Amino acid sequence: MKKVLTGIKPTGYAHLGNYFGAIKPAIELSKNEDYECFYFIADYHALTTLKSKDEMKEYFYNIACTWLACGLDPNKVVFYRQSDIKEVFEINWILCNVTPKGLMNRAHAYKACVENNEQNNLDRDANINMGLYNYPILMAADILSFGTDLVPVGLDQKQHIEIARDIANAFNKKYENVFIMPDCYIQENARTLIGLDGRKMSKSYNNTIQLFTDEKELKKKINRIVTDSKLPGEPKDLDCTINKLYKLFVDDDKAKEFEQKLKDGLSWGEAKNMLFEVANNYIKPMREKFFYYMQHKDIVDEILKQGAVKAQKCAREYLQKVRKAIGVEN
Ligand code: ADP
Ligand code: TRP
Repeated sequence: MKKVLTGIKPTGYAHLGNYFGAIKPAIELSKNEDYECFYFIADYHALTTLKSKDEMKEYFYNIACTWLACGLDPNKVVFYRQSDIKEVFEINWILCNVTPKGLMNRAHAYKACVENNEQNNLDRDANINMGLYNYPILMAADILSFGTDLVPVGLDQKQHIEIARDIANAFNKKYENVFIMPDCYIQENARTLIGLDGRKMSKSYNNTIQLFTDEKELKKKINRIVTDSKLPGEPKDLDCTINKLYKLFVDDDKAKEFEQKLKDGLSWGEAKNMLFEVANNYIKPMREKFFYYMQHKDIVDEILKQGAVKAQKCAREYLQKVRKAIGVEN
C-alpha cells in the first residue's frame, strides 16, 4: 500500500491556498483504498514564527478543525499532532548528521530571510533562528519516518520534498537502504493560489482569504481582490485572480460560462459578486462542521490522541530500522 503524508503548520488561519493546494487533494487521496494516509498539524514547525503560546493554541485548533471540517475521516486517515511523535525528533537528529550544511544554505525560506537582511543593511543572519535554518531537516524527518511515497502540497513546498530526497539518499548511501524516496503531488490548477494583493496567498503576507470566516467577512475579502482598471463593458483578462479562483469552485461548464461573461465585459463588481456566491455555497457546509468542532475541542483532542498512537507505532518501526542501520540497537 502506498503511503501519503502531509502537514500544515499552525501559523495563522487556514486559507483558500491551503485548502486547494494541500487539504482538498489530500482528502481526495484518502478516499482511495490503495493509500494509507498520515495527515498532521506541524506544531513544532510553527515555533519558528509564532510569538506566543496563545497564538499556538488558537492556530492549532483552527488547523485541526479545518482538516476535520474539510472531510478528513479519522477512521481512514491517521491524524495527529507532530509534537506527539517523539520518534520523528530522534530521526531528525540522526538526519542532521548526514545533511550537508550547504544544502540548508540553499533552502528558499532561509535564503529569502538572508536576502531581506542584506537589503536592509543588517547582519545576514539577523533574526534568523536555528529552527528556521534546520526546518527542512525536520520536514524530511516528518516524511521519511513513515516511509512516505506521496506528499500532497502546493508548489512552494517542492524544494522541501527535493531536500528530503537528498537527505534520504545521503543516509541510504552512507548506511543502507532504509528510506523511501518521496514524490510531491501538486495540483496543476492550484499550484500557487494568488492572494488579495496579487502575490502568492500566504499567512505570512497577510493577503489571504480565510477558508472559515463568516459570510460578511468572506464578501469583504473578495471585494478587496486587486483587479486592473478595465471598465464595465470592456473585455477582461482571463488570467486574472478572480477567474482563477472562480474555476476552483465550479465544474467546467460553469467555468466556461463565467469566462464568456468576462470576455463580454462583465464588470469587476459583478464578477466579485458571482465569485462570492459560488465560494460561499461551496464553503457553507464545511463552515458549519468547522464551528461544530471549534465548540467541541474535546472531540478533536480525542481524535488526535488516537491518531498519535497509530502514528507512533509506524514511526517506531522506522526508528528501529534507522537505529539498527547506524549501529545503535536496543
Ligand atoms: P502559508 O504559506 O500560508 O504559511 P503553509 O506554509 O502552512 O501556508 O502551507 C500549508 C500547505 O498549503 C502547503 O502544502 C502549501 O504548499 C500549501 N499552500 C500554501 N499557500 C498556498 C497557495 N497560495 N497556493 C497553493 N498551495 C498553498
Ligand atoms: N513545511 C510545510 C509548510 O510550510 C509544512 C510541513 C511540515 C509539511 N512537515 C511537512 C508538509 C511534511 C508536508 C510534509 O506548509
